[in-house]
Amino acid sequence: MARWLLFLATLLAAEESFITPQEYAAQLYHNPRGIGCNLCHGEHGEGKVIAHYTDKGVRKSFTAPAINVIGFEDFDRALNGRVKGMPRYFLTEEERRTLYRYLHPKDANVPN
Ligand code: HEC
Repeated sequence: MARWLLFLATLLAAEESFITPQEYAAQLYHNPRGIGCNLCHGEHGEGKVIAHYTDKGVRKSFTAPAINVIGFEDFDRALNGRVKGMPRYFLTEEERRTLYRYLHPKDANVPN
């Protein structure tokens, strides 16, 4: 009985790690050790209005820009530094490339 449980646990653990690179990228985009990018930048990095507010009687909105249209250098620079209005992430270079590829599937110029 205990052997079976161990076998089952091993099987489940192995199953967890059998994800495609695309699934890994999607998971990282939604759960990057912090608040998900999708919550502010939209499901595909298309940008999104985060909140509306009124400043001195003028209605304004706080938006996160589209990040599926910028080049890798700008993308990487923003994620490497401090961006106003965005949480600071501590992602590895590989993670930043994974996220970039996820949002720019047709860009063949991303360094591996
Ligand atoms: C709380 C909302 C929020 C979250 C979550 C967030 N961002 Fe941002 N992000 C922003 C805002 C707002 C800006 C624009 C800052 C500015 O204009 O100065 C921005 C800017 C950027 C830029 C620079 C865009 C440019 O045109 O230069 C990149 C790249 C970026 N975010 C990527 C990400 C990624 C990848 C994640 C997840 C790891 C993420 N962001 C999570 C709000 C967010």
